[in-house]
Amino acid sequence: MKGKKQVLNSRCEIYNYLDYSFADHLVQDITLGMTGKKKYIPSKYFYDLNGSQLFEEICTLPEYYLTRTEISILENIAPYIIGSSSQIDLVEMGSGSDTKIARLIRASSYLQGEGIRYIAFDVSESALYEAARCLTSQFPRIQVLGYVADFTRHLHHLPHVENTIFILLGSTIGNFTDEEMYTLFCDVSRAMNPGDRFLLGIDMVKDPVILEAAYNDSLGITAEFNKNILNVINREVSADFELDDFDHLAFYNTGREQIEMHLVANRPVTVIFEKIPLTVHIKKGESIFTEISRKFSRKRIEDTIRPCNLKINAWHTDPDRWFSLVELSKVFQ
Ligand code: SAH
Ligand code: TRP
Repeated sequence: MKGKKQVLNSRCEIYNYLDYSFADHLVQDITLGMTGKKKYIPSKYFYDLNGSQLFEEICTLPEYYLTRTEISILENIAPYIIGSSSQIDLVEMGSGSDTKIARLIRASSYLQGEGIRYIAFDVSESALYEAARCLTSQFPRIQVLGYVADFTRHLHHLPHVENTIFILLGSTIGNFTDEEMYTLFCDVSRAMNPGDRFLLGIDMVKDPVILEAAYNDSLGITAEFNKNILNVINREVSADFELDDFDHLAFYNTGREQIEMHLVANRPVTVIFEKIPLTVHIKKGESIFTEISRKFSRKRIEDTIRPCNLKINAWHTDPDRWFSLVELSKVFQ
């Protein structure tokens, strides 16, 4: 199946693979998540237009050290990572805005983006179009192929790629369960050819005070971002969540080495999901679980990638070792 195609300009095509299936999947996910013992909404639904804009704001917050630390490492290693062959494919999953990829390209030797084909997957149509527009105007010779798609389901739609770097930044992998991580690593591994690499951005285990501050910023942007998921659900399945009925809760679970994010009802709430149809009662103090954000150690990464035939080529970090960009390659047997 080919997704609906739109040509943005002569150097950019965007395919949509979500058109038909997104609403169905959302209905399934919400039904499952809101009727189970522990209520849960998958985190990919954070990212509508408003969600993507709020996330961009989070990235600039003083407490949210992840983005600036990752960018500093990225700029340091760019010339080495991208190298200087005449043609390269960059496949970014969960690309979001153009900020990081633009910095990577600018710090490399590919002037004007000549020789680069950038292939981006994102569920957020608005973020993808905006990133494609910004990139093609900054780099007049770059080729851009955008996929409005779920990279956990649609990676097999990738065209034939060569001399490729697969890229997953922002510790997005930390938002996956063990099972989802395993599936994604195996999917990427399957798509890799000899010589290809996989650049993975991960947040490292550190002082819980620093971690908890990053997800409880003083301006309340993270709280707004967390609650925005209810706006998305309201719109997509005609639900009637009142955002003020819920409080943002984010804390570090030391045993599991992850931030856990919830929306806690501050009064008894009845929600009607008209389009499903479904009615759900939520008790005062009961929470809807929205996201985990794992913090990693080298051992955890090694153990997770091994079954998918991936190995560590190089490990890049900052002076404090707060964040890491790990370069992986595939082991061909
Ligand atoms: N890469 C950027 C953005 C990270 S936020 C950065 O490092 O700052 C995560 C991004 O991944 C969002 O843009 C979101 O829309 C996208 N995303 C999350 N889950 C996704 C999925 N399953 N498929 C495709 N995109 C996804
Ligand atoms: N990948 C990001 C992270 O784990 C996503 C994120 C940042 C996030 N801040 C958030 C998700 C707040 C939900 C709420 O850090």
